[in-house]
Amino acid sequence: MRLSIVTALLVGSSLAAPHHEKGLSLNTLAQRRGKLWFGTAADIPHTAETTDTAYLDILKKQFGEMTPANALKFLFTEPEQNKFNFSDGDYFMDLARHTGKSVRCHNLVWATQVSDFVTTGNWTAETLIPVMRNHIFKTVKHFGDRCYSWDVVNEAFNSDGSFSSSIWYDTIGEEYVYLAFKFAQQALKEVHANKVKLYYNDYGIESPGPKVDAVLKLVKELRKRHIRIDGVGLEAHFMVGGTPSLADQVATQKAFIKADLDVAMTELDIRFAQEPFYTAEAQRQQAQDYYVSVSSCLLSGRRCVGVVVWDFYDKYSWVPYSFEGQGGATLFNDTLEAKPAYYAVADALMGKPCSVC
Ligand code: G3I
Repeated sequence: MRLSIVTALLVGSSLAAPHHEKGLSLNTLAQRRGKLWFGTAADIPHTAETTDTAYLDILKKQFGEMTPANALKFLFTEPEQNKFNFSDGDYFMDLARHTGKSVRCHNLVWATQVSDFVTTGNWTAETLIPVMRNHIFKTVKHFGDRCYSWDVVNEAFNSDGSFSSSIWYDTIGEEYVYLAFKFAQQALKEVHANKVKLYYNDYGIESPGPKVDAVLKLVKELRKRHIRIDGVGLEAHFMVGGTPSLADQVATQKAFIKADLDVAMTELDIRFAQEPFYTAEAQRQQAQDYYVSVSSCLLSGRRCVGVVVWDFYDKYSWVPYSFEGQGGATLFNDTLEAKPAYYAVADALMGKPCSVC
């Protein structure tokens, strides 16, 4: 397995990754501004991305972090009760190690992509809590300090700030969130990996509102119980022309930072509601939206630790599969050429006015 990763990386590509001053990558530009990395999600292994050498070449050159889009989710790591399969996760981790990248590990407890044995079981809180505990302990201990951070709980709130329905919430109640963080913290301690950061991750918390308030309340509650939470992941799945303003994004990030949290933009992409995706005007607006979003992390200061895009090639974006007719959301178009959005991100990272907006 390791050999195939190396082979894929050595084959390289004829397509040059775009460059800026002195050939600096987005990751280098971000690190020059005090960020830990500029990262991307990748859906590897078992996908076309896994062996696409042109794609892998850009992944290798431009990004300093990679987030597994699927490989670490419950469904894939524990397909049957207490039968763990970490081979996809290990493949992903090996690729990250070979290319010198950090990994945001995603995710431990979520409503979606949970194995059938969980969703179809006839559980009570007393029987489901040990299942969650076992999943968290085995998974966290297996990956140990190969993770920069874990998204411990993912997307637990509705837009009005109430807890959203899931097998976890419906069976255990809000206690499931506190327990998940407690178990993750305990598991890390057992493998001497306390430096791994514990995150809550969600969408719709990039501008002020009831959902942000709910996350802040959750953080308070965890701390009252002496349970560690280090950061909040702002997914940032935006629409072209509907991206939150710079002021709103900065205000929200600062509210989390004021609560003594790190923040990261964890899944940034900015999609079109409909075709055409590639006209000059469409591209200019998208570039402007990316410029604003990346600038917000720079303006919020050191504790916005970095930006991660939810993949960088329109061909591999999740968007068209989930929203029919929508797309064009990433930094590289459907023939893997850098879009104006790519250059807008570079401008933002260099602290320059946007040259393509
Ligand atoms: O594994 C099966 C495979 O066996 C089958 O052949 C194939 C056929 O469609 O489907 C595969 O499953 C897909 C899975 O990704 C793995 O590739 C599912 O259909 C597909 O729905 C699933 O989508 C993922 C989605 O989460 C699920 O909700 C996306 O790739 C992934 O990018 C997306 O990521 C989420 C974050 O985790 C949380 N925030 C939102 C973000 C975007 O939805």
